[in-house]
Amino acid sequence: MKEKRIVKTLAICASVLVLSLIVTTAGLIARAANTPAQSNEPGQERQDWPAYGGAPENNHYSKLAQINRSNVKRLAVAWSFDTQEEGGLQTSPIIVEGVLYGITPTQKVFALDAATGKLLWKFDSGIRGTQPDRGLAYWANRKDKRIVVGVMNFVYALDAATGKPISSFGNGGRIDLRENLGREPAGSQSIDLTSPGIVYKDLIIFGGRNPETLPAPPGDIRAYDVRTGKLRWSFHTIPHPGEFGYDTWPKDAWKTSGAANNWAGMALDSRRGIVYVPTGSAAFDFYGADRIGDDLFANCLIALNARTGKRIWHFQGVRHDIWDRDFPSPPALLTVKHEGKQIDAVAQTTKQGFVYLFDRAKGKPLFPIESRKYPPSTVPGEVAASEQPLPTRLAPFARQRLTEELLTMRTPEAHQWAVEKFNQFRSEGQFFPFSVGKDTVIFPGFDGGAEWGGPAVDAETGIIYINSNEMAWTGALAPNTGENSPRAIYMSQCSICHGETMTGSPPAMPSLIGVGERLTPAQMATTIKNGKGRMPGFPNLTEDQSYAVISFLLSGESKELASSAPPPASMPYRFTGYHKFLDPEGYPAVAPPWGTLNAINLNTGEYIWKIPLGEYPELASKGQKNTGTENYGGPIVTAGGLLFIGATNFDKKFRAFDKSTGELLWEATLPFSGNATPATYEVNGRQFVVIAAGGGKDPKSPSGGVYLAFALPQESPNTTSSSRLEH
Ligand code: HEC
Repeated sequence: MKEKRIVKTLAICASVLVLSLIVTTAGLIARAANTPAQSNEPGQERQDWPAYGGAPENNHYSKLAQINRSNVKRLAVAWSFDTQEEGGLQTSPIIVEGVLYGITPTQKVFALDAATGKLLWKFDSGIRGTQPDRGLAYWANRKDKRIVVGVMNFVYALDAATGKPISSFGNGGRIDLRENLGREPAGSQSIDLTSPGIVYKDLIIFGGRNPETLPAPPGDIRAYDVRTGKLRWSFHTIPHPGEFGYDTWPKDAWKTSGAANNWAGMALDSRRGIVYVPTGSAAFDFYGADRIGDDLFANCLIALNARTGKRIWHFQGVRHDIWDRDFPSPPALLTVKHEGKQIDAVAQTTKQGFVYLFDRAKGKPLFPIESRKYPPSTVPGEVAASEQPLPTRLAPFARQRLTEELLTMRTPEAHQWAVEKFNQFRSEGQFFPFSVGKDTVIFPGFDGGAEWGGPAVDAETGIIYINSNEMAWTGALAPNTGENSPRAIYMSQCSICHGETMTGSPPAMPSLIGVGERLTPAQMATTIKNGKGRMPGFPNLTEDQSYAVISFLLSGESKELASSAPPPASMPYRFTGYHKFLDPEGYPAVAPPWGTLNAINLNTGEYIWKIPLGEYPELASKGQKNTGTENYGGPIVTAGGLLFIGATNFDKKFRAFDKSTGELLWEATLPFSGNATPATYEVNGRQFVVIAAGGGKDPKSPSGGVYLAFALPQESPNTTSSSRLEH
């Protein structure tokens, strides 16, 4: 039975290989494509930023050119809006007809006069959001204008003029994403909307964030009627019996397996009516003995008919993912000149540092993708895919294999320490399965390469701009012992991030040692139920189980469960934790660059420029400048010749580069790091560039939630205004 399935899987691999080899790169012409942006948004296209990513194409591109290479040096704060909350922001606001719509760190939704930053309305659902909420969607039909926005597991339709929920939408103005997933009880499902839905005609299409451990609901892609909130179609990323891809999983996986979800957002070709949906790995991320097979449509770029949800084509980037190699960014649509022809294309970036480029109508790769062989897993029960696809012509934008030569030289002591550590690791490059008892290097790390900010593509030139992390992380598997104890729950559900000994991997994953001194049991229970930051909620744990884990956190000892409820699914192997390979002083143990910004011409596949992005202020002041740092949040590119990006975790800078050369033309220091994608728009003849600054990724700096809009100074003085959100 299993053998048969694997044979079939290989047949699929082989056909992909043949298909990809047909594509050759001969005859590419290094010339700009010169195609206009294809936005089908009515009217305000030139001035507005009406969708997450700027347009349904998600190109992060604006035709505005008032702010340009020659005057960007004079850019100054025009207004700022302080949400008066802590916690950080990943939100990229949208701007429609002079109104900016944004979200606070606890997921209150607000509207501002986009020219002045003055608050127009604020909507508080009563739910305290505890996860990232990266954006909003706008839909209009004549006078009916709506903001559709996620608040945790709910999606609200708000009147764009007043911020009031539209009561005819869903259940009193909202829908619950936990429903209609085919898993009961709905209230125990963990799914939250972290990237916004995408609008096609009168539909709004959603993915969601699902847990990385089981139980997890399936990552169904769902379209709802934007007027009524009724479910119109579902695409099963874990196929049901009879559906394409069903035979790439064990036969009951569709009932028990989870995730394969779209958490990073989508892109839409409105003219063709195709939505492009990148997905993440299946749960559990690191051990897949219960999901032997390729696991379609996990780790796929899927092109779906936006009207019906029917699959048109797909590409699977990682077969049977056991490394958490989600597609981490929304795709970007552009037109390239390829072998003398104009081709409408879709670009997809990855955590590994790859760029894939496909003809977006048919899914044919425009640069070759080759299947390579990899060794089997040595972990009992696991069957790793024997081959994985790799792009061979488009060079990766991050280093691929950590070797001793690439270790830090920051100080002789740090280098020595790194060499000793490194010698205990396996470091063989991409797609080498984890083993038991020895750490394997993941480079670039679990957070890319590319991340959720996504790339920008210049509609005028066909150049893609990608910011990238270049950190090494390590991981290993260990046998899971104990079944019913609080300790077992901790080990199966929590240790993946907080570590076996609760030390976590700060700053990304906090230590839980002494957590009782910081938080009350009730506060911990809320965090466990709802999640926080990048921690998913665990609504599957009963209250008793949750308090059992809390007592385990407080005492470090195991107490027997008071509850008769079944324990959550437990795997024979667990992940020993997301460990960043940092030196004893907390800096990356690899040599710089630790973060980069890359410009690649997608007509030719050639790099135009590549620079380090960001620095550690305290290292820079000692002469170690331009190291690059971890960065989250994407760039935007404009007809004014500029590329704007915040993103850097430690220096809090917002920068403008010459998009043709990578030369730094302007920078400003934000109150908190701008870990969010900016947006640009024009109101009353004045161009603004806005970014959400919330920080939260540097443990040494406080977090907040401020939106800042920059513009060229006007003639009259006193043009800077600031406003605050009332409590
Ligand atoms: C996917 C990774 C992940 C998993 C799994 C996870 N956590 Fe967390 N946890 C985090 C992160 C990241 C934070 C910090 C969130 C923030 O402050 O933004 C956190 C924060 C917490 C906090 C608050 C710590 C503090 O000092 O404020 C507690 C308590 C906690 N987690 C407990 C748990 C328990 C119990 C489990 C298992 C049931 C669990 N976590 C599973 C990632 C995870």
